[in-house]
Amino acid sequence: MSTPTLDKHSAALDAAEDGASHLITVTFRIRRFNPEISEDASWQDFQLEIDPKERVLDALHKIKWELDGTLTFRRSCAHGICGSDAMRINGRNRLACKTLIKDISPEKPITVEAIKGLTVMKDLVVDMEPFFQAYRDVMPFLITTGNEPTRERRQSAEDRERFDDTTKCILCAACTSSCPVFWNDGQYFGPAAIVNAHRFIFDSRDEGGEQRLEILNDKDGVWRCRTTFNCTDACPRGIEVTKAIQEVKRALITRRF
Ligand code: SF4
Ligand code: FES
Repeated sequence: MSTPTLDKHSAALDAAEDGASHLITVTFRIRRFNPEISEDASWQDFQLEIDPKERVLDALHKIKWELDGTLTFRRSCAHGICGSDAMRINGRNRLACKTLIKDISPEKPITVEAIKGLTVMKDLVVDMEPFFQAYRDVMPFLITTGNEPTRERRQSAEDRERFDDTTKCILCAACTSSCPVFWNDGQYFGPAAIVNAHRFIFDSRDEGGEQRLEILNDKDGVWRCRTTFNCTDACPRGIEVTKAIQEVKRALITRRF
């Protein structure tokens, strides 16, 4: 037999499905870290009355604005575009602004912590510099030789399709920080850098493919990938990250791209 609390949650969740607005009580268990106070991180619970149709980002705002102004996290667009609010929610990397409370078992405490593999600076904020350095290292820009064309560089729809998926990356780091190889060795380029190399390697207008492949042929490059698919599962843009990594590996072997 379900408890009255669970009944209340179920009714509110049903109402949420129907589009009605009902508040439920949700516990957010947040991993706090402030190096100015302690070297150790610890969990802190916050209880909120909140509409389950709201997003985890809305809950974090409510906590910051109404309960504890010291709670620190990144966000900008709040609509799944800027990639700044990737975090581990109930043990899985997600964007807080794209995660509805009703979809993540709000009858139990919802855990929120910083993404793994990057140094935590405060609460949910990590140092993204190693991540962006790997991105810069694969030269994520069009490389061409010869004279500037007098008109646009044309490309067939078929050629454009080859790298369409990897153009969708918003550099949120959800993939790289879900990768066990990256957790164990932060020197690994990581899935996001490879995705962004893929975007140019397979672009028929680009002439830097060989250079990028050589960069990724490094001991910290694509061969470190163990095909665990964590990256594909984590990507909020639905990019087939593991497939892109496999295509780069194949291009390294065949030198055809
Ligand atoms: S590939 Fe997906 S998960 Fe990885 S950084 Fe890009 S958008 Fe984020
Ligand atoms: S705040 Fe921009 S992607 Fe979530």
